[in-house]
Amino acid sequence: MSSLRTDNDTWDIASSVGATAVMVAAARAAETERPEPLIDDPYAKILVAGAGNGAWQYIADDGFVAKVTESDPEIGPLFEHMKNYQAVRTHFFDAFFAAAVDAGIRQIGILASGLDSRAFRLPWPAGTTVFEIDQPLVLAYKSSTLASHGVQPTADRREVPIDLRQDWPTALTHAGFDADRPTAWLAEGLLMYLPADAQDRLFAQITELSAPGSRVAAESMGIHAQDRRERMRERFASITAQFDVEPMDITELTYEDPDRADVAQWLTAHGWRAEAVPSQDEMRRLHRLVEIADGDDQSFSTFTTAVKR
Ligand SMILES: C[S@@+](CC[C@H](N)C(=O)[O-])C[C@H]1O[C@@H](n2cnc3c(N)ncnc32)[C@H](O)[C@@H]1O
Repeated sequence: MSSLRTDNDTWDIASSVGATAVMVAAARAAETERPEPLIDDPYAKILVAGAGNGAWQYIADDGFVAKVTESDPEIGPLFEHMKNYQAVRTHFFDAFFAAAVDAGIRQIGILASGLDSRAFRLPWPAGTTVFEIDQPLVLAYKSSTLASHGVQPTADRREVPIDLRQDWPTALTHAGFDADRPTAWLAEGLLMYLPADAQDRLFAQITELSAPGSRVAAESMGIHAQDRRERMRERFASITAQFDVEPMDITELTYEDPDRADVAQWLTAHGWRAEAVPSQDEMRRLHRLVEIADGDDQSFSTFTTAVKR
């Protein structure tokens, strides 16, 4: 159970769950700059740079990682894994959208879009509308930062600034969403920040808004044993104490509800044809799987995709 969260909490880009959006953007920026990258996100760097100082600065700081690894040999592989995972995840969901537009879908719903720049970097066909839903200050930060760098969306991009625990379907409809047209939805880096009942409600709302032929993709977090979480916490505390930095401990922000629904099973039971891919398989396929401490199969996340019947 998360220790820092409340039912109606809010955040800006540099605090609480907002800061996790900068963290994953930092990983995309690092991937974009490495040789033979899996993805190309030219805007991630701009978005990270404008967010100020925070734990995300260590993601690409090889000197810092090397220093910390001297006292804890597991840290180097952990950072490598974290960056590889974000690259593979972005690559997977980019491909999901490419397949959706190939199938003729022109309405996109990105839930908890954070600093996802797909509305600015993917080659959307003419006539595509991309709805981005996230907390107001997160969306405002992204659009003002990219606008100040002259970056234009590649689709008709519409912001829906609302918390996904509130009545977002009404806000989405007011923004011009058409429930009679098939939609491709994405919930990437989101479900772990919602309690289990809010996750069920979210998928029920998506189902209600989805015309036949709609698609959905979601990332769900793996299960981390209590003793593993304890070791991670100790690891973060030790880094903080030794190096005078505040690494982000996302376990304080996530809801590890043991009775959370399995996404593919839930979708299958509610009119979708679903498939689940273990993320470690996708990482292996793309030659990005590194050995990490406590990296048992259960601890890896799952990528689920589904088509509405
Ligand atoms: C780890 S980031 C992922 C952002 C983006 N999907 C990506 O992969 O780059 C988590 C995002 O979820 C958003 N988020 C989490 N819970 C939310 C909620 N209840 N309502 C709206 N946004 C939420 C945060 O604001 C943040 O942008």
